[in-house]
Amino acid sequence: MNAHDNRPVGIFDSGLGGLTSLKAIKALLPHEDLVFFGDTARVPYGNRTREELLRFSEQNIRFLQSKDVKAVVVACNTSDAMARAEVQKEFDLPIIGVIDPSARLAAEATLTGGVGVIGTHVTVTSGLFNLLIPLYNPLAQVTAVETPKLVPLVESGKTHETDAETVAVLNDYLAPFQNGAIDTLVLGCTHYPLLAELIGKLLPGVTLINSGAAAAQRLKDTLTQMDLLADRTGPGAARFYVSGDPDPFARNGGEFLGEDLTGRVQRQV
Ligand code: DGL
Repeated sequence: MNAHDNRPVGIFDSGLGGLTSLKAIKALLPHEDLVFFGDTARVPYGNRTREELLRFSEQNIRFLQSKDVKAVVVACNTSDAMARAEVQKEFDLPIIGVIDPSARLAAEATLTGGVGVIGTHVTVTSGLFNLLIPLYNPLAQVTAVETPKLVPLVESGKTHETDAETVAVLNDYLAPFQNGAIDTLVLGCTHYPLLAELIGKLLPGVTLINSGAAAAQRLKDTLTQMDLLADRTGPGAARFYVSGDPDPFARNGGEFLGEDLTGRVQRQV
């Protein structure tokens, strides 16, 4: 059977981080239309309660459904850790997360077995990375660290080497990993790949796993298995919605994507 589905794929995160998934999905599935939602009025998600994360996830998926999406990528480790499995029960469309795909990539990437994870409070305390990575690679020793100051820095566009505060915060957070104990670090929050250049400089030789990007292959596999791939021949289009101010999102997100998002980010209504 060669069925297809030209409806868009929905992607959500608390903010800019989900663009790391969007970028990878655009590269891997260039014919798909995408609808992105960043919940910037309620960012950060990293310290939210389970009840809040369930409610926000459900609301975000309903918003994306109002745009007629055929599948949703939860491009947020925090929501994935706390809410995805639960909200999947309420929706009759595939809802893909970021944690399992990136845990698997990390397990496959490590040669020494030393794997670090950085993530939000919710993600790290969920223990999911500590559980999943050794399932895929029994030799893996996982050290997970909460790095809560990073999301606000990324949201305010402080992702450059000239941003002294960001460099100092990263130096502090990454100190436990600077002794050669790990060869692989999971960027267990979709915001962190926006800091990959700085992190890479502080941890030379360490393989960085981009949790946002890891979901792209899982999405492709799912759409293929379910006969949901688009069959258009031209490039797909992306639409962007946020719950907060569209301007900083357009500025910082456009810089990360390498495209001009001015006037292309709409406020959620
Ligand atoms: N980017 C999200 C994640 O992957 C959420 C971070 C936050 O809002 O605290 O966890």
